[in-house]
Amino acid sequence: MIVDMSIAVGGVRLRGPVMAASGTFGYGTEVPLLERRAVGAMVSKGIFLRPREGTPPPRIAETPSGMLNAIGLQGPGADALVRDYAPKWATWDFPVLVNINGESAAEYGELTARLDGVPGIAGFEINISCPNVEQGGLYFGNDPRAAAAVTEAVRRRTKLPVWVKLTPMVGDIGVIARAVEGAGADALCAINTFVGMSIDLNAYKPRLSFRTGGLSGPAIRPLAVHLAHQAARAVRIPVVGIGGISRAEDALEFLVAGCSAVQVGTATFVNPCAIAEVHDGIESFLHARGFKSLADLPRHLPRD
Ligand SMILES: Cc1cc2nc3c(=O)[nH]c(=O)nc-3n(C[C@H](O)[C@H](O)[C@H](O)COP(=O)(O)O)c2cc1C
Repeated sequence: MIVDMSIAVGGVRLRGPVMAASGTFGYGTEVPLLERRAVGAMVSKGIFLRPREGTPPPRIAETPSGMLNAIGLQGPGADALVRDYAPKWATWDFPVLVNINGESAAEYGELTARLDGVPGIAGFEINISCPNVEQGGLYFGNDPRAAAAVTEAVRRRTKLPVWVKLTPMVGDIGVIARAVEGAGADALCAINTFVGMSIDLNAYKPRLSFRTGGLSGPAIRPLAVHLAHQAARAVRIPVVGIGGISRAEDALEFLVAGCSAVQVGTATFVNPCAIAEVHDGIESFLHARGFKSLADLPRHLPRD
């Protein structure tokens, strides 16, 4: 096909607008080459400075048109990531961003300093859906000051692109979006999972050992399109749309609502070819409508 699908988002050059969302593609090493040809970028599973075991099973539960997960950000820590995964990423033909996490702004900064300049790491996606231990467990992502402090702590430690992944569990996503833009973010990712709960009536207990979990998948898509749209209207930096994308039409909704690119998460569990199919479907859509490039697609709605 002859549609130019490449796009630059927040300092990262992508060959296509469809990326793999954090936590749904592992560290990328398990995914067959076949499925990588259309990957615009991969965001790695969330990492902390030190190794973490995560929460005990059961960690996932299927729900109508979606799933709940409470993995608890299991991960090998920064040193193992640098040793075992980054060297592989450095040989790949698409960029990898690391999803970074912390219990304090200082810890996010320390993690960034450890990963900055490591070959294979093209940028950072800050997960602000983490409890702030210094503030009694309030989520960074719910408080514009805490969200900005984390963004600044990361920004100070790197010249690589810094994206901030917003939580939907807020009163006004535009307030958080503006706060992190002001703190130096290069792009926003909207959104992370919604907090949900499901009860097993036979066992008389929650289906997840952690009780609550993050809801993802098609069930959240209209909510996610709305929030990504709100975020895009609030800021000048690019917004990456995330939430329930499994087909090209879903991704196109986010793009037309104001997003520059998208990430696909849960759909990959159902269909390992989802990213490639979404990419190809967007290309066909643009071709059928006479667009020569993705950049020509209007990214606003009539009343905007
Ligand atoms: C099993 C699982 C693990 C996830 N782990 C992370 C993570 O480590 N960091 C993060 O920022 N988001 C994480 N997410 C959230 C996804 O990246 C994405 O924002 C969310 O699932 C919504 O997109 P989707 O409906 O396409 O899955 C995870 C989601 C799932 C389902």
